[in-house]
Amino acid sequence: FQPKVLAGRKVLITAGPTFEPIDPVRGITNHSSGKMGFALARAAQEAGAEVTLVAGPVHLPTPRGVRRIDVMTAQQMHDVVLPAAAQHEVFIATAAVADWRPATQSDQKIKKEGKKVAPTFALTENPDILAAVAALPGAPYCVGFAAESEQLLTHARAKLQRKRIPLIIGNLGPATFGRDENSLLVVDADSHHALPADGSQADKLTLARILMQELSQRLSNRTA
Ligand code: C5P
Repeated sequence: FQPKVLAGRKVLITAGPTFEPIDPVRGITNHSSGKMGFALARAAQEAGAEVTLVAGPVHLPTPRGVRRIDVMTAQQMHDVVLPAAAQHEVFIATAAVADWRPATQSDQKIKKEGKKVAPTFALTENPDILAAVAALPGAPYCVGFAAESEQLLTHARAKLQRKRIPLIIGNLGPATFGRDENSLLVVDADSHHALPADGSQADKLTLARILMQELSQRLSNRTA
């Protein structure tokens, strides 16, 4: 049984990778499984929230009672999230959004035959969805995720400031992609703590449920 600490709150979550097409059969993506974002969506729904989950291409069932919108590219995710954000009190960005996409997309499959040299691709930057939501007037309470291979706390703090968000969750690792367990570092402007507290591993749903309790406390402190 989960206490309904988010009853009546509207929560928007991004999850999974994005897929940036090169041509009709190829693209750039990453190893994000979407498991952490889907666990958070389930935990938020269990906690009584009305949840919208914007998911990149993943192979996961939709948590019960959650509204899901599927997208492929970072631009599509941005275009769904931005207009929806103002109607939500919380935005949790777990998606591993591709930082760059091919500058142009070929309508036809790029053929190998007849090419003497390998093709090269110019890349262009994708929008930073989390930073864009945080910059909205009346922005929801924004939570970011950080996957760093070193100096997690330093990078997480820098990310808080750069994206102007109140809370960031770092993956303490080992590499979390696709795994059912994780170890997190919860970082705000002036404090941080590990989840689980002893730095051990816990399954993503357990972590998501604890995060919802913390989130509800932070929301009530904000409005108090
Ligand atoms: O800047 P970096 O990618 O390290 O930041 C990670 C955080 O920002 C994650 O919460 C991720 O979901 C979000 N993000 C985003 N749009 C991007 C890049 C990252 O929402 N284009």
